[in-house]
Amino acid sequence: MKANDSKRKVLVTGGTGYIGSHACLSLHEAGFEPVLIDNLCNSSRRVLPRLQELSGQSFTFYEGDIRDRELLRSIFAAHQPWAVMHFAGLKAVGESVAEPERYHANNVEGTESLLQAMAEAGVQRLVFSSSATVYGDPDLVPIAESAPRRTTNPYGQNKLDIEHMLERLAAADERWRIACLRYFNPAGAHASGRLGEDPNGIPNNLMPYISQVAVGRRPQLDVFGDDYDTPDGTGVRDYIHVMDLVEGHVAALEHLQQANGFIPVNLGTGAGLSVLELRAAFAAASGQDIPYRIQPRRPGDIAASWADPSRAKALLGWQAKRNVRELCADAWRWQHNNPQGYDSE
Ligand code: NAD
Ligand code: UFG
Repeated sequence: MKANDSKRKVLVTGGTGYIGSHACLSLHEAGFEPVLIDNLCNSSRRVLPRLQELSGQSFTFYEGDIRDRELLRSIFAAHQPWAVMHFAGLKAVGESVAEPERYHANNVEGTESLLQAMAEAGVQRLVFSSSATVYGDPDLVPIAESAPRRTTNPYGQNKLDIEHMLERLAAADERWRIACLRYFNPAGAHASGRLGEDPNGIPNNLMPYISQVAVGRRPQLDVFGDDYDTPDGTGVRDYIHVMDLVEGHVAALEHLQQANGFIPVNLGTGAGLSVLELRAAFAAASGQDIPYRIQPRRPGDIAASWADPSRAKALLGWQAKRNVRELCADAWRWQHNNPQGYDSE
């Protein structure tokens, strides 16, 4: 990195959210200056002092919606960011089935608004949070980026619509540099135990559910199905440590210095773990009992999904470094120290 651009600013949408907050730290460590925007619909302002404590810096934060074009214009004018990392979005699959219009308006129209503001400001470097959900129920595992894309719910359709929008942009104007990162199952927390996942209400995802059982907030884990075509019958996923994930974002940002176009990349470990295996790993890391009961399959779930991460390694020089033991130990440190998430203090 050149000395005169050692503090390049990166606008982080959804910056107080689970992945966005960890990304801010990673950006800071890599010599970038994150500027955050979040409407706090699914996160807490209490993330901000934690980020300051961990980074020694007070990051600029705008409370607002990415659909507020005036606000975006003023942020781009004030900061002239070098790039954007776009995390802002609604992500609960079940909710998206119940409220597809709200999901489209927030996720797809929100991204349109952001892209418009970027184009007006001449900012054409973007790292976008896509998801393995765009592969639907895969024909093959591990899943490569060339696998067919299909969706099974409105949330997945939002991600696919946005991917198509980004592809069209890049095809029309070669100055766009877009890393489209397809996450597998992000989990875990910053090793300090000060930043982590703090879902509202009953967690939809496995890892925060297990953590809340371990800390005594919930009596037991419901395992959704033990009759899948997998080694122990429970669903298999690729759980990737959130710090590995955000380091992959910084690697993608660096890659955009030399690459243009629409660049889809899987971020996963390349290994699958079943529900019961993750439960056992968490019990071992936390020393807590995690009672469970087998329940019927959850509608819409697939048997198995894990990444072929070879493109990320070849293109970005990135691969996941942390193993499942660290993932569970870090998730437990966060949950144990903050039993009520950011409301704990
Ligand atoms: P999160 O809910 O913790 O973070 C998203 C943040 O965006 C929240 O802080 C929310 O308040 C904010 N936000 C939502 N709509 C907004 C809007 N219109 N304007 C401004 N802020 C808005 O979720 P996360 O887990 O950190 O996910 C980040 C991104 O990664 C999302 O786009 C999500 O779809 C994607 N993703 C997440 C997962 C996962 O399992 N966590 C998997 C694949 C992809
Ligand atoms: N599961 C349980 N009990 C629970 C929660 C989950 O048994 O209480 C099981 C599921 O049936 C599945 C596995 O744990 O087999 C993982 O489920 P998650 O809900 O944690 O994750 P998914 O793979 O279903 O979906 C997540 C995100 C999606 C995203 C996808 C791929 O929620 O938005 O990863 O990135 F698209």
